[in-house]
Amino acid sequence: MAVLDAQCVQDFIQCAHNGWLQGWHERNGGNLSYRMKAEEAAELQGAFDESGEWTPLGVTAENLANEYFLVTGTNRYFQNIKQKPAENIGICKLNADGSAYKVVWGLTVGHKPTSEFATHVMNHSVRVKATNGTSRVISHAHPTDVIALTFILENSAKAWSQALWQAMTECVVIFPQGVGVIEWMVCGGPDIARASAQEMEKYAALIWAQHGLFCAGDDFDSTFGMMHAIVKAAEILIKVFSSGKPVLQSIEPEGLRDIAKAFNLPLDESLLEDWDSLALPLLPF
Ligand code: 13P
Ligand code: ZN
Repeated sequence: MAVLDAQCVQDFIQCAHNGWLQGWHERNGGNLSYRMKAEEAAELQGAFDESGEWTPLGVTAENLANEYFLVTGTNRYFQNIKQKPAENIGICKLNADGSAYKVVWGLTVGHKPTSEFATHVMNHSVRVKATNGTSRVISHAHPTDVIALTFILENSAKAWSQALWQAMTECVVIFPQGVGVIEWMVCGGPDIARASAQEMEKYAALIWAQHGLFCAGDDFDSTFGMMHAIVKAAEILIKVFSSGKPVLQSIEPEGLRDIAKAFNLPLDESLLEDWDSLALPLLPF
């Protein structure tokens, strides 16, 4: 089978394009990876060239040894993926101890996988453990309102989870375990990969202060959907904060507990401690 005919590759391309249409991927901003199922990789084996060299990742993910990943290229633009997929995306295989990769398909004309590949691999590694192996997609984007909020919300999982859950009802349904945050760091290397994975052991969504957002999920729809919900909630909060009006009411902890009960959700109660209600009068400047 030709790689571009595979359903998972088609879905990957469509997911990347949908992110572009949302405005989340200026220039080469953001990256996407998919941990292929064994049968998906086996079906495409004839189209792979495994003769290339191994490139060290700078991190090790033993539980992902020998796995294949669809991934966007570094300095590639999401806007071009649909038109020229083989130039802009590729398939990478991890080595037998999960410490290095080689490109086996795509990323033609000498392109390389995203500079955040170490973070993607580490995030896959911890999400696989957290979900008993069901997690497959990691998406990274630069949504404007999420980045804007990182200037005014404290860098803590509590502050972010509380604010987003209060912004709209669906948020606690979509991410009842909350979202993690890491403070600003240099991107594109093993240090931010390790810091991210430490948070993504607990959270399927992670904010990078003054940079963007990572989401993990079992498939493209649920991963994109979680990102979409967080971006929308961030937009609501920015609009509310920018209105200059005092917030009169928002969703309170009891409401969140009631939703969790009604929908049988694994709400992380610890994130409700030290509740910081949005419905406080704005402090005068
Ligand atoms: P890449 O072009 O290497 O994927 O980098 C984009 C990005 O968003 C860095 O965080
Ligand atoms: Zn980025």
